[in-house]
Amino acid sequence: MKIGILTSGGDCPGLNAVIRAIARKCDSEKIEAIGIMNGWKGIMDESYKPLNLNSVAGIINRGGTILGTSRYSPFEEKGGEEKLLNKVNREGFDAIICIGGEGSHHIAYMAHKLGINVVGVPKTIDNDISGTDFTFGFDTAANIATEAIDRLHTTAESHHRIMVLEVMGRHAGWIAMYSGIAGGADYILIPEKKVKIDDVVKVVMNRYKRGKLFSIIVISEGATYIEDEIFKKNKTLNEKKKLDSFGRARLGGVGHLLANEIEKRTEFETRATILGYVQRGGVPTAFDRMLGSLYGIHSVDMVKNKRFGRMCSYRSGKMTDVSIKEAIGKLKTVDVEFFDKMQVFFR
Ligand code: F6P
Repeated sequence: MKIGILTSGGDCPGLNAVIRAIARKCDSEKIEAIGIMNGWKGIMDESYKPLNLNSVAGIINRGGTILGTSRYSPFEEKGGEEKLLNKVNREGFDAIICIGGEGSHHIAYMAHKLGINVVGVPKTIDNDISGTDFTFGFDTAANIATEAIDRLHTTAESHHRIMVLEVMGRHAGWIAMYSGIAGGADYILIPEKKVKIDDVVKVVMNRYKRGKLFSIIVISEGATYIEDEIFKKNKTLNEKKKLDSFGRARLGGVGHLLANEIEKRTEFETRATILGYVQRGGVPTAFDRMLGSLYGIHSVDMVKNKRFGRMCSYRSGKMTDVSIKEAIGKLKTVDVEFFDKMQVFFR
C-alpha cells in the first residue's frame, strides 16, 4: 500500500508531529509513506519526498511543516481535475492524507468526489473546524497569546495605558476567548458577537473609577464589524482588502482601529499590538504534539479501514472520524452563550 501525505493552508504548530506519527505508523505496518511537497500543488508538480524513520527524526518539537505548504487548489486551474486524477493514479497512491484546515478540506472533499481516496486531518490554530473538539495548533496559539497578554500587563500597569491585543481568528474567536480569559483581559471582542465600542469604553471607565488606570482588551482579527461602526457602513476600507489564494480577505489591523477609537473616546493613552504570525510559529505545546500524534496514527488506521471521504476527529478524549462533508458544512464558532457567561469578567 502507498499513501501520499500533504500539508495544505497556513502552517500550524503540530504539523510535524502528525507527519512523524504517520511515517512511524506506516513503517510499523509496512506501508509506503510518501510526503507530497507544498500541499496539493506537489501532486501537480510531482514533487515528492519519501517519509521514513530517518526523514522524520527530530521533528516533533519543530513548528511549521517539513513538507512545505500552500493555499493552492487544483480545482481552480483549467483542466486541474483531470490532471490531479491522472497524477494520483500514475503515482499509484492508494490514498491521500490531507492535513489541513477548512479551505483545504473543501479541496479534499472535491478530490474525494472525483474518486480519490482521501482521509482528512483537521489543522488550524483558529480551532474552527466542526466535527472535532479541538484542532491541533490551537493550544499552542492560545498559550502564546496568553503569554503576550501577561507581558502586555507590565507596560499597561506601569504607563497607565489601555493595551489592545489583536489575535488571529478569521471567523471564530476561540483564540481571543481562551487567551483573554486565561490572561485576565478586561474585554474581549470576537467575530461571533457584535458589541458597541462604547461597551468597551464603559468597562475602561468603570475600571478607572475603581482606581484601575489600565485595561487590557483582546480582539480577534475577524471582529471586522467594528469597521462598520467606525466608518458608518462606508465600505471603502473593505474594498481595498487584498485576497489570499483561497479568495479570502487578508485580515489584520482592527486592533489599531479599535485602539484609536478607545483613545478618542476616553482620552487615555491607548496602544495596539498585533500578534500575527508569532501565534503560528515556534515549538508546539505538549498537548498539540500529543493530539498531532494521535491524529497521525488514526489517519493511517482510517486508510487501512477504507474510511475515505472522512476526517479524523477528537471527541471527549477519544479518536473517531466524521464525514468531511459534515466537517466543512458549518464552521465551529464560539457559542454566544459561552461569551455571555464570561461577561462577569468584563465590568
Ligand atoms: O487560518 C488560520 C489563520 O491563522 C487565520 O486566523 C488567518 O486569517 C490566516 O491564517 C492568515 O494566514 P496567511 O496570512 O498565511 O494567509
